[in-house]
Order: sequence, then C-alpha cells, then structure tokens
Amino acid sequence: MARILVTGGLGYIGSHTVVELIQSGYEVVIVDNLSNSEVNVLDGIESITGVRPAFEKIDICDKSAFQACFSKHGSIDAVIHFAAYKAVGESIEKSLDYYYNNVYGLLQLLSSMRANGVKHLIFSSSCTVYGQPDKLPIDETAPRKPATSPYGNTKQMCEDIIRDAIVSYHDFTAILLRYFNPIGAHPSAKIGELPKGVPNNLVPFVTQTAAGIRKELSVFGDDYNTPDGSAIRDYIYVVDLAKAHVKAMQRLLAGSNKSELEIFNLGTGKGVSVLELVHSFMAATGVKVPYKIVGRRAGDTEEVWADSSLAEKELGWTARTPLNEVLLSAWNWEKKVRGIKE
Ligand code: UD1
Repeated sequence: MARILVTGGLGYIGSHTVVELIQSGYEVVIVDNLSNSEVNVLDGIESITGVRPAFEKIDICDKSAFQACFSKHGSIDAVIHFAAYKAVGESIEKSLDYYYNNVYGLLQLLSSMRANGVKHLIFSSSCTVYGQPDKLPIDETAPRKPATSPYGNTKQMCEDIIRDAIVSYHDFTAILLRYFNPIGAHPSAKIGELPKGVPNNLVPFVTQTAAGIRKELSVFGDDYNTPDGSAIRDYIYVVDLAKAHVKAMQRLLAGSNKSELEIFNLGTGKGVSVLELVHSFMAATGVKVPYKIVGRRAGDTEEVWADSSLAEKELGWTARTPLNEVLLSAWNWEKKVRGIKE
C-alpha cells in the first residue's frame, strides 16, 4: 500500500482527495496547519471511508516540525501539495503572506522531499495561470499570461520552481493539475467547503443566500460579451476533481508518465455563465436565490473554459457529474452545516 503525504489535506479539495485516495487503497498522512480548515473534517473523512488517516498539525514552513513528520511516518511514496492560500482579493492586500506561505512553503516541501528521498509530487495549480486566454477552450499549450494578483503569481512561480527542480534533480517527477472552478460537496454531505467570513466564490455565496445568511447575491457584471452578459466559467465538481488526483498518482507511481513534468487541465469543457448557474441552482433545489446585477468585479476575466482532452487521453479521466447534481450537493452540505431541515 503506497503511503501518500497530503499537505492541506483537511481543506476543501484536499479532504475530498483524501477520501478518494483512501477508497482507492492508499494510506494517507495529512499535514495541515488548520489555518483555513477544521480538525473535525477528519471525522467526516473517517465516517465516509471507515479509516481515520494520520494527521499532523504542522505548518509546512516550519522546517524542523516538517522534517520530524517525515521521520515519524517512515517512507512516503509521494506528496500531493494543496496547502496554500487561495483568495485573490486577500492576496492583493497581504502579498507577502501569500509569497511566504505559497512559495516558501513549496521550497520547504521540495527540500524535505529531497532530504527524505520522496520523488513524486502532484501540485495544485489553477487556470488562473492562463489569465484571459486568446482562444477557447484553453488547452495546456496556451501561453501563461502575466498574473493579475499575487495569488496567481504564486501559482506561476510554484509551477516554475517545480520545473526547475526537475531539471536540477533528475530523479524527480511531478504532475501539475490546473483546476478550473471547483464546486460542490461530497454526496454524503459529510465534507464540503467551509469558507471563513463572507464567501468570495460564487457557489458558497449562492448557498449562503439560499440559506438566508446573505440577503442577496450580487452578480458581478451583465455587460460582458457573452450570450446573457454575465461572465462564463468552467465549474468542476470537487469529487470529480479529487478522482483526477488518484489517476495522476497511479500514473506517477506506475512510472507511466511520459515526461518528468506533466501538466493537465481539469475542467468539464463546458462554460456556464453566472446567471445560468444561479438559475440552475434554483431549478435543482427549488430554493429561491434573490440576486441583483452590480458592476464588474475588478480583475475578473470574461470567459474561461477548459479543453481537458489531454487529461481524458492520458489519465483516462473526465468530469462526469451533471451540474444540477453538483449544485444539489453544495446545497445539501450548506443545509447540513447550518442545521437546516427540509
Ligand atoms: C477565482 C480565481 C481562481 C481560483 C478560484 C477559487 C482568478 C482569476 N480566479 O476564480 O484562480 O482558483 O477563485 O478560489 O484568479 N461572482 C459573482 N458574485 C459573487 C461571486 C462571484 O457574480 O458573489 C462571479 C465572478 O465575477 C465570476 C464567477 O462568479 O464571474 C466565479 O467567481 P469565483 O467563484 O470567485 O471564481 P473565479 O474568480 O472564477
């Protein structure tokens, strides 16, 4: 049984990936500093899988604690690195925190991996590296555009650092997974997204509005050059996304990767507008979401969706879950968190 260290394994995408890894027969060691997650996510993981994975409350920037973790858990076969800050707006206000946590954290991780002979890495990247692309859908050959936020910049820098590390230390392989917009929650409603404070992202704002926590949703812009005027994204179900990590892990551990560094886009290949998403949510759940149109949000791109055919061909992976099911899972999770009965 391969042993996988998952940084940020109690976070949103991390926890769903831990579930899929365990259900695929991997042993998981979670490292998480709980800066944007709760320790009781472990209960959710255990309740779904019947396994309580090892957990270390460690900040990956803390070199000695992280080193001790490697020594304690013996041989680690591979790492999946989720632990990072991810809020675009916050990154503009606290840029140094973002560079420290995301970039120094990765450097720390890579040197610990080297010191402990761990040779395989899966890295959580983002479609944000493409900016507003010149053509749609976006495939992996699309050029990266200058980042519009420190957050986006950290993703580009981390990709570059991994690429350089592979050149320097030949026995090291990595897969960069560029996520489009992850949404939804586990069908069991035992784990899901737990945004702190007012959500920045669309779906948590929609579910909180449906739950009556927010008065109304602001739709940021209806004057984009899109069919209904609102911005278009590629919303991918977090469980489908988690399954892609298992496929990528199997590929790295089997040595069936075609080069030391591979990059895969993970999306559905389908663009959905903000207004379409809101109306799909109402249709799927039967719950009204009051909304108003406001001005565009600074830094937003007009339309983005993925060409994920490389992931389909090489990983044998596609995002299959229909949007209404995904939105229902997000609503079921919100109801569970808020204690809302039917
Ligand atoms: C952003 C980041 C992405 C990151 C993701 C998850 C960029 C350009 N995008 O995606 O890299 O992975 O967050 O953290 O860096 N919207 C509203 N009202 C709201 C909230 C959102 O209309 O209250 C709209 C937005 O304007 C956008 C769409 O919904 O058009 C999706 O927004 P959001 O969920 O915040 O994701 P992105 O900005 O696409």
